[in-house]
Amino acid sequence: MNHFSMIDGALHCEGVPLERIAAEVGTPVYVYSAATFRRHAQVFRDGLKAAGARVHLAYAIKANPNIGVLRVLADEGYGADVVSGGELARALAAGMPAHDVVFSGVGKTDRELIRGLEAGIGQFNLELEEEGVVLAALAAARGLTAPAVLRVNPDVDAGTHAKISTGKKENKFGVPIDLAPGIFDRLATLPGINLRGVAIHIGSQLFDLAPLEAAYRRVGELVAELRGRGHTITHVDLGGGLGVPYREEDAPPAPADYGAMVARATAGWDVELMFEPGRVIAGNAGVLLTEVIWVKPGVINPYVIVDAAMNDLARPAMYDAWHDFVAVRPRGGTMTANIAGPVCETGDTFAMGRTIDRVERGDLAIFRTAGAYGATMASTYNSRALVPEVLVDGDRYTVVADRIAAETILAAERVPDWL
Ligand code: LLP
Repeated sequence: MNHFSMIDGALHCEGVPLERIAAEVGTPVYVYSAATFRRHAQVFRDGLKAAGARVHLAYAIKANPNIGVLRVLADEGYGADVVSGGELARALAAGMPAHDVVFSGVGKTDRELIRGLEAGIGQFNLELEEEGVVLAALAAARGLTAPAVLRVNPDVDAGTHAKISTGKKENKFGVPIDLAPGIFDRLATLPGINLRGVAIHIGSQLFDLAPLEAAYRRVGELVAELRGRGHTITHVDLGGGLGVPYREEDAPPAPADYGAMVARATAGWDVELMFEPGRVIAGNAGVLLTEVIWVKPGVINPYVIVDAAMNDLARPAMYDAWHDFVAVRPRGGTMTANIAGPVCETGDTFAMGRTIDRVERGDLAIFRTAGAYGATMASTYNSRALVPEVLVDGDRYTVVADRIAAETILAAERVPDWL
């Protein structure tokens, strides 16, 4: 459910006409609905009620790290899952308490570990034994004890796109689950670290709960084994990954189904369960608003050339992802067209041979379900501006990220004075 709907013949975000945002901010622009973020945050939390009272929610900032968005989620009681010093800074800037921050990531630098320690974050998710050794030493040198869990790789196929699958043994993430007990034995003796549990995350845009449940059951066996070896296990981080519908016919598991599965798989664990949802919170809470520059005749189908491009929304070019394309003020009728951006690459194509609302030069349209992994993956390729972001709440909106003009980026470059 989201709050982008037709009112009097034109698409609105909550109470704000998208035409108004286009006129006042310009296009392309990402538009987010605060009400949708709140709703998703609540539905996800409610879905987990079946799993018991001790639940910690750490929104995976990478999905949409805008600090306006983070504030909305902080107000809903969400902490953050961060994967870089930059994301940590955002979580703190948005007012998320440091103890609600989880630091994931396969390549944290010493500087980033120190930043996390000094900020007093709630948990480090270790990706390899050596990281635990380094973290323990950095913490002990500062008179601190770092709360940590070990990320394990359960070797399950999550059944998602290869580029966003993370739980197979050949992936770079976590330690092989059968090596975890030995690593625990060695790290637990070190001063400066409190290794208190395990973490898992097998992939993103998951539609099938079965591999996830299989992975959780393997984690359950591991927890029992670790306890049997005398370790105190108080936290298990079950990651993120729940899929969202990009097309009308898509039917991802509902948060309540996920919650029921979690309750089943984790019964009797007696730990605090931690979650790192990203896409399921942000995906349908945002759209990319764009203007049709040309309807260019094509040999097979016409090309609808829009002012948004692969640098603004990379997912179609990177993962062949589908994003619905909808006219802001439909003229009536449909057309079969290719939709492409202005970037000089054939890959800068959002759709081929798709039946869409009939559009003409100058019309506005949106790409739906662009709230997650949209603006955050934007670049300035082809020396295009960095796309701005708008947050709507009811009948008001704020530009929560400015358009960074190509000239501003140019001003940060220089020709060496020896040339
Ligand atoms: N936790 C960890 C350790 C992760 O690596 C990720 C996502 C998440 C949580 C959040 O997963 P989510 O709930 O959003 O599925 N750019 C890609 C998605 C990359 C996901 C990376 N990791 C896309 O646009 O589809």
